[in-house]
Amino acid sequence: MQSAAIKLNAGPTNDVVLSVRGVSKTYGSGRDGRLVLDGVNVEVERGEFVCIVGPSGAGKTTLIRCMAGLMRPSAGTVQLDEALVESPPEGLAVVFQDYSRSLLPWMSIAGNVRLPLRGKGIPKKEQTARVSEALEAVNLGHTAEQYPWQLSGGMQQRVAIARALASNPEALLMDEPFASVDAQTRSELEDLILGVRAQYGVTVVLVTHDIDEAVYLSDRIVVLSGSPTHVKEVIAVELGTTRSQMETKATPTFARLRTHVLGLITKQQTPV
Ligand SMILES: Nc1ncnc2c1ncn2[C@@H]1O[C@H](COP(=O)(O)OP(=O)(O)OP(=O)(O)O)[C@@H](O)[C@H]1O
Ligand SMILES: [Mg+2]
Repeated sequence: MQSAAIKLNAGPTNDVVLSVRGVSKTYGSGRDGRLVLDGVNVEVERGEFVCIVGPSGAGKTTLIRCMAGLMRPSAGTVQLDEALVESPPEGLAVVFQDYSRSLLPWMSIAGNVRLPLRGKGIPKKEQTARVSEALEAVNLGHTAEQYPWQLSGGMQQRVAIARALASNPEALLMDEPFASVDAQTRSELEDLILGVRAQYGVTVVLVTHDIDEAVYLSDRIVVLSGSPTHVKEVIAVELGTTRSQMETKATPTFARLRTHVLGLITKQQTPV
């Protein structure tokens, strides 16, 4: 399934769709309180692909949860299209790492993808069309009547991506979505998400531990500091509008960027 070169057909637009301003998060309170995020600022433009990287435990998942409205920051604001995000908004869809817990095993693949469309007044016919389109976009049209446990891990994560796409989100937030699959499947999923982003014109914010993945996928990379966490640097990824696993990763620009990001992250690690 590995494709040769992906034409991005999308990119930053100078039109901010998602903004995180001065977001801080403390878990617990009083003497037991622990400041995890300390004044994080991120702006994501419509159509942009932004990867967030940072040391383990820096608060990446906490940040994504705040962005998605799944958690309220202790201070600061998140806005989607200038509306304050205080609970999960319609325009945001989230894909987590653990596909095995995100799909319902007793429901068919089509049923799982349809789930977020139910109870929203969307006519049945349109629901069916959206489910088919989303499954086609992740090359899983043929699995509609199967069940999650009949699919491989990589396929299940593609179902989770299809489910997120079915609601036609403004932005897709992904927390280490490819961390639980093997290396080959991972690069296939990277290309798949680039293709899907081009097809749907959706904005993507993706958290990853994998620096090569961040450089390969992004228009910009947000590097977080160690805890308490702020934005250490934002890096524009000037790799052009076509990406290919073999060729892009062999360019001097790719090598320079990965060394730079790696340096920023390893400098943060507390020595043991
Ligand atoms: N619900 C919670 N209650 C208390 N502390 C929490 C909670 N969730 C996360 N933490 C703490 O906040 C810190 C940041 O956690 P978070 O999961 O956001 O980091 P992360 O950067 O996603 O980590 P990883 O790289 O391991 O995925 C950790 O020290 C974690 O123990
Ligand atoms: Mg995490």
